[in-house]
Amino acid sequence: MLTKRRVGLAVLLVAGLGALAQAIQPPPPPLGKAEKPGAWQTTAVPARVRTLLQRACADCHSNETKWPWYARLSPGSWLMADHVTRGRRQLNLSIEYTLDEEEVGEIVEAAGNGSMPPPSYLWLHPEARLSEADKALLNQWWMGELTE
Ligand code: HEC
Repeated sequence: MLTKRRVGLAVLLVAGLGALAQAIQPPPPPLGKAEKPGAWQTTAVPARVRTLLQRACADCHSNETKWPWYARLSPGSWLMADHVTRGRRQLNLSIEYTLDEEEVGEIVEAAGNGSMPPPSYLWLHPEARLSEADKALLNQWWMGELTE
């Protein structure tokens, strides 16, 4: 039988666990300033591609991570901090001063096959979803067909 007392205890327990989880908070990713503008912010990267990378990739692949209020709620905050740490480790557009052909190829491939941006990110960031036109633009960039 669920007595009022048991329900009360269960509520307390859940609230307690929630508070504990919330108390364990990863620090927001550091915004570290780069010495020079990253490769993607220079004219070497066509303006439309730059805008696209900013919209869909910069939160995890640059030092310009936006850290909204919900990024401070456990357990999501743990997952988000981990994404940013691993994402930056693989590719940090703020500290890469040039992008070689191989890196451009990896970016275009990850975006083209839908593995990036990660699907879980798109729940809260629908604006980061890449359309077919976006993917075509990236392909053109890779083929060297974009002039500006
Ligand atoms: C929510 C954070 C997040 C966003 C947004 C994001 N990435 Fe990633 N990205 C990651 C993580 C995490 C990894 C590392 C995966 C691993 O460790 O296996 C990664 C890895 C990569 C890699 C390395 C190769 C690979 O596939 O593992 C490339 C290239 C890449 N991302 C490109 C992009 C591009 C291009 C965009 C934008 C269109 C983007 N990412 C958006 C989190 C993100």
